[in-house]
Amino acid sequence: MSMAVRKKRISTADITALKGERPIVCLTAYTTPIAKLLDPHCDLLLVGDSLGMVLYGMTNTIAVTMEMMIAHGQAVMRGVERGCVTVDMPFGSYQESKEQAFRNAARIMKETGCDSVKLEGGEEMAETIHFLTTRGIPVMGHVGLMPQQVNTAGGYRSLGRTEAEADKIRRDALAIGQSGAFSFVLEGTIEPLAREISAAAPVPTIGIGASPACDGQVLVVDDMLGVFTDFKPRFVKHFASLAPVISKAVEDYAEEVKARTFPAQEHTFQMKKQPI
Ligand code: KIV
Repeated sequence: MSMAVRKKRISTADITALKGERPIVCLTAYTTPIAKLLDPHCDLLLVGDSLGMVLYGMTNTIAVTMEMMIAHGQAVMRGVERGCVTVDMPFGSYQESKEQAFRNAARIMKETGCDSVKLEGGEEMAETIHFLTTRGIPVMGHVGLMPQQVNTAGGYRSLGRTEAEADKIRRDALAIGQSGAFSFVLEGTIEPLAREISAAAPVPTIGIGASPACDGQVLVVDDMLGVFTDFKPRFVKHFASLAPVISKAVEDYAEEVKARTFPAQEHTFQMKKQPI
C-alpha cells in the first residue's frame, strides 16, 4: 500500500469556521496552472462564471454553459492540493426549480470533484439552497449585485444607496444566511450595509466591491494580476501589471523569429556524434 500522504483539503465547514477568526482569502481560478499558483495562498478558489467574460470574451455571463463550468472546474481541481473549490452554477441551470438545481449541482460535483457550488439569488433562492444542502451539496450564496440578473437590473452598478435597495439586500442576506449556505458572496454594495450584514450573518460574507467589513475577499484573478486592462472598476486593485510584461515578451519573440535568432543552438536538436 502506498504511504504517500495526501495534504488535507480545506472543507466548506473549515471556511464557515473561519468567521470571526481571520479574513478568508478567495480568488477566481479557471485553469490548472493558475490554480497551482493560487492554491498555497488561497482558502477558497472560485471557478466563477465570470470565465465567460474573462476567458471567452463574452459581454456578460448569460451564455455560459454547464459544459464550460465543468471543463474549467475539472481543470482547477487538477491544480489544487489544499484549497476549497467552489464552481459557479451557470445562468438557467438552477432557477427553474429546486429539482433542476439539484440535478445540475450534483452533475457539477460528480464530474469535477469540487467541494461546493455557488448560485446567485436572495429570498427567492433560499428554499433551493436548503433543498441542496440537506441533500449533500454544500452551497455558497451570492447576493447584492448579481451579474446573472444584468438584463433585469439594467446593467452593473453598486447597490444599497437607497433605503429600498438596502432593505432588499438586507432581506436577501438574511434569507441566504439562514438557508444552509456555508458562506455567501456579497457583491457591489456600500460599506455600512456590508458591515451590518457581515455582523449579523451566521456564515462568512465574501466581499467583492463590498468593503473590508466582509469576512473575506474575492477578486477576479485576471483583474488583480493586471492581465485584463480594458477598464478597472473602483473595487479592483492591480497587485501586478502582467499585460505589458506579456506584450513585451511576445514583441521580443516576434522580432527574434523574424531575425532567425530564435531558436538558437541551445534550442535545437542535432544528430548524435558517431563514435570514431
Ligand atoms: O463569477 C465570478 O467570478 C463571481 C465572483 C466575482 C464573485 O461570481
